[in-house]
Amino acid sequence: MPDLPDCCNPAEFLSLSGRKGLVVGVANEHSLAWSAALHYRKAGAELAITYINDETLTHVAPLAECVEAPIFMRCDVGVAGELEALFAAIEARWGRLDFLLHAVGSMRPQDLRGRLADCSAGGFAQAMTVSVHSLIRMAHLAEPLMGSGGSLVTLSYLGAERVVDHYDVMGPVKAALEASVRYLAHELGPRGIRVNAISAGPVVTRAASGLAGFSEMLDVSARVAPLRRNIEADEVGRAALLLASDYTAAVTGETLHVDAGVHIETPMSRIRSTFKSNAEAKETPK
Ligand SMILES: NC(=O)c1ccc[n+]([C@@H]2O[C@H](COP(=O)([O-])OP(=O)(O)OC[C@H]3O[C@@H](n4cnc5c(N)ncnc54)[C@H](O)[C@@H]3O)[C@@H](O)[C@H]2O)c1
Repeated sequence: MPDLPDCCNPAEFLSLSGRKGLVVGVANEHSLAWSAALHYRKAGAELAITYINDETLTHVAPLAECVEAPIFMRCDVGVAGELEALFAAIEARWGRLDFLLHAVGSMRPQDLRGRLADCSAGGFAQAMTVSVHSLIRMAHLAEPLMGSGGSLVTLSYLGAERVVDHYDVMGPVKAALEASVRYLAHELGPRGIRVNAISAGPVVTRAASGLAGFSEMLDVSARVAPLRRNIEADEVGRAALLLASDYTAAVTGETLHVDAGVHIETPMSRIRSTFKSNAEAKETPK
């Protein structure tokens, strides 16, 4: 290895050794939160893992065992007291928390496949409470445990910024989530707590499969993306590790797109290639 300046220690690698992290949102081995949990653990962190109900317990328990999670608890953010009990257990066991991943999103099945214009007040409130206010509550509960600073990361989608067919009600919900990331980053920054979002491209998971037109979404994303492919859950996991680590110590209030570049494209960006292929088609002798 050549002699490198001090800033580039050749032995350096992403490490969360000795760090304590909370991962909320593992439903099964396809969950984006599971990819993140694997990367956190491989980097040396100790993890608290949650499951939402008895139905998912059987899927999540072996995963929690796999990452040797010393805290494994039920936590439905919609059930009064469960989030508070989780943070009380973290305080009792570790006395602190260094990072957390909020990978929670849901809305009522009748709203999932309906138009935003038809969404009831109750359905909208439920989606906002579970998918957005839960992050705000986690920030509130994590703050006293992050005396030496910390990192909060949540998962969003392009539908927060642009209209994506079929995303409907979840679009404004994710927009509120990304705005909350900025406000929480502003409020918690003076305590050294960073708050960021990962805007992930579509990946086949349990939650995503419930969206109408999801396979079409996958197909279009792969065609539109500058990288001409869809992303993998592992790529979200790696980005989550980066945001939990000191390598992003000065990054906060950010929405990091892990979407093979889809977010930079507009319908207009394909005009030239469409025009070119039409022109070529005309020139091709029949
Ligand atoms: N898969 C994608 O294409 C994609 C893309 C961008 C963003 N996201 C976001 O990633 C996050 C994770 O979703 P996923 O795709 O990994 O699917 P998933 O089904 O594996 O995970 C969703 C998680 O939300 C949890 N959840 C739902 N309601 C909850 C509640 N009341 N209390 C506690 N937990 C609750 C579920 O238990 C589950 O673990 C979601 O916020 C989703 O919107 C997913």
